[in-house]
Amino acid sequence: MNQGNAAPDERVGAARWRAIVDAAVDGIIVIDAHGIVEAINASALRMFGYNESESLGQNVKLLMPEPDRSRHDGYIAHHLQTGERRIIGIGRAVTGRRKDGTTFPLHLSVGELDLDGEKHFTGILHDLSRRTELEDRLREATALARLGEMAAVIAHEVKNPLAAVRGAIQVLGTRLPPSTSDAVIVKEIIARLDGLNDLIQDLLVFARPPKPKFAALDITAMLASIASLLKTDPAFPALEISITGSVPPIAGDANLLDIAFQNLLINAAQAMQGRGTIDVKCHADHDWQSVEIIDQGPGIPAEIRAELFRPFKTTKARGTGLGMATAKRLVELHGGQISVVCPPAGGTEITVRLPTTVSEG
Ligand SMILES: Nc1ncnc2c1ncn2[C@@H]1O[C@H](COP(=O)(O)OP(=O)(O)OP(=O)(O)O)[C@@H](O)[C@H]1O
Ligand SMILES: [Mg+2]
Repeated sequence: MNQGNAAPDERVGAARWRAIVDAAVDGIIVIDAHGIVEAINASALRMFGYNESESLGQNVKLLMPEPDRSRHDGYIAHHLQTGERRIIGIGRAVTGRRKDGTTFPLHLSVGELDLDGEKHFTGILHDLSRRTELEDRLREATALARLGEMAAVIAHEVKNPLAAVRGAIQVLGTRLPPSTSDAVIVKEIIARLDGLNDLIQDLLVFARPPKPKFAALDITAMLASIASLLKTDPAFPALEISITGSVPPIAGDANLLDIAFQNLLINAAQAMQGRGTIDVKCHADHDWQSVEIIDQGPGIPAEIRAELFRPFKTTKARGTGLGMATAKRLVELHGGQISVVCPPAGGTEITVRLPTTVSEG
């Protein structure tokens, strides 16, 4: 065969193959019997955040987190010695490691081939991040729906009798001379019952929020009115809330967003032990209106940061841990998002982003 004739055809062939392989939605990686990456397509490079020169010639374990990273050479050696197949020809869900160190779920199937007496392995990688995210959301929605059913039962079975008990005790209380110790006890019982009722009410708002009634809503004015309410609270004796900027009216449910912002501002005020200034910055960008709530407190404790929005996560002796979970749920009912940053210098910055208009449904 004459090289002059064969080479151009082969070049066209190789270029075509490259285009086909690069057009694949799934990642494709070929390694040799030592785990060295011999070929990697565009999708795999995107998935892991590397470019070709950083990954070709490297050991494929670069793309794995521990413990697979340390064990991968052993996996190949074991297969070559014993012929045993744990993933080859089978495929399974594994974890990938991006260049930035983050990990993600993927399905990997591996095929084996012999070329010129040497073993090579072709891996097809399907990114499962999106599916896992949807599954997590579905699980969360199912858990919320169950909690909603439970809350409805509690409301019926506990709240109504509680109101009846409170009414009866109040009647008994009015028959007691006001300054007796019994009258004090009755007052204390009523305060405890009110606390219990508030807890059930909070649980209901979180687990079974009413369908939002959207109307034009001035968020800046709402924040100002929450701020003046908080300043009258004896628990926050030296609190300042500075509101800057403004946002145009949005379509929102005033009652629900009031509860969401109250929870966030109360958390900020509690973190600062009622002293100092909370900065509230409002600004409009494109289709979103954002409100940043910045406090000078100690920041969110690291141990609960990852689960901050889960119900009943609290570090407070008298907290129920429903504030953040409720705020998130109510903001999401408006098509919005909440994000949290605790800068290394201290304090907490909570950003609520709400769409200017909400598609109802
Ligand atoms: N601005 C903040 N600064 C520091 N920690 C915060 C802040 N906001 C929330 N946290 C932490 O997150 C936890 C959960 O807050 P969340 O509002 O859900 O519940 P809570 O305030 O403890 O109780 P509840 O709001 O039901 O009375 C708090 O206990 C606190 O540790
Ligand atoms: Mg709270």
